[in-house]
Amino acid sequence: MKKTILTGIRPTGNLHFGHLFGAVSNWIKLQDDYDTFIEIADVQALTDNFNNPEKVRDHVLELTIDLLAAGLDSEKVHIFLQSEIKEIAELTVFYSNLVTMARLYRNPTVKTEIAQKKALFGNDGESVTYGFVGYPVSQAADITALQGDLVPVGEDQLPLIEQCREIVRKFNHIYGETLKEPEPYLSENARIKGLDGKEKMGKSLGNAIYLKDSDEELKKKIMGAVTDPKKIKKDDKADPEVCMVYYYHKLIKNDNIKTVCSECKAGKRGCVFCKQELYQKMLEYLKPFKEKRKYYEEHIDEVKKILQDGTSCAREKAENTMKDVKKSMKIDYFEERG
Ligand code: TRP
Repeated sequence: MKKTILTGIRPTGNLHFGHLFGAVSNWIKLQDDYDTFIEIADVQALTDNFNNPEKVRDHVLELTIDLLAAGLDSEKVHIFLQSEIKEIAELTVFYSNLVTMARLYRNPTVKTEIAQKKALFGNDGESVTYGFVGYPVSQAADITALQGDLVPVGEDQLPLIEQCREIVRKFNHIYGETLKEPEPYLSENARIKGLDGKEKMGKSLGNAIYLKDSDEELKKKIMGAVTDPKKIKKDDKADPEVCMVYYYHKLIKNDNIKTVCSECKAGKRGCVFCKQELYQKMLEYLKPFKEKRKYYEEHIDEVKKILQDGTSCAREKAENTMKDVKKSMKIDYFEERG
């Protein structure tokens, strides 16, 4: 039997290069060999956006289209919607007894995110909600409801997988062997740099290239990319290793990469020319995505059907898990007990 992969993504924005190279390319590779479930984590997205439900709603289908355009095959993977699986919410409640507040506050991912919120809103953390601090518990419910063996994630998510494993062990210890302990699966390119030279591309950092960007937006972003700051004039020699344009030439596997590198080092390649070449190569690279994206935009009922089918499949699995969980917890009052 194939092992199960479970991973999730928050519908708060469109798919960008950071997602594509950091995570989604990995999911695409794995889809042939594993029973793959991709969760559109709308409930988790609401922990941060509870006062902006339109944003979450608008991005559910948008993100599904992006994922399909990126190359996830609806015949192979189950893309499903978190809010439609009530077992996940139930498990979250059951697991909440197995986690202390101190442990949640110590979770490095939660800690970093709370620090970011404090810096952003300039308060002492008063606005940190119960739902937010508890989202690792809900994520443990996502993973275990679907009985995930492997969870492909970026490095920032490792503490959440660890917390899930702790919950599973505690559950099994108290109620008897019931749940599977998942393993994290790190993507090789876990982090993609932004065009501005920042270590991470991110929506909130404003340095992302989206699959959905128009040609004009793409051009503007590439022309504004950070190059070697020591290079002042067009024919100065430069160091490609500190140049974001070179980084992206490499990322999209430009077949001309050796020339790009040697010309740059020799001072025979102006940055404007180099950016124009990157733009052209990027257009070629993005062409198949854009075509697929257009197809799904024009066949939105097909997208909804894919999401509904994926959700039914996930629900069936979650219902099975719930039967076992309720039995172990002795809350299966109306079932025949064997
Ligand atoms: N927290 C993840 C993120 O922000 C998204 C996510 C939700 C997830 N549920 C998951 C990841 C389950 C792995 C497994 O990227």
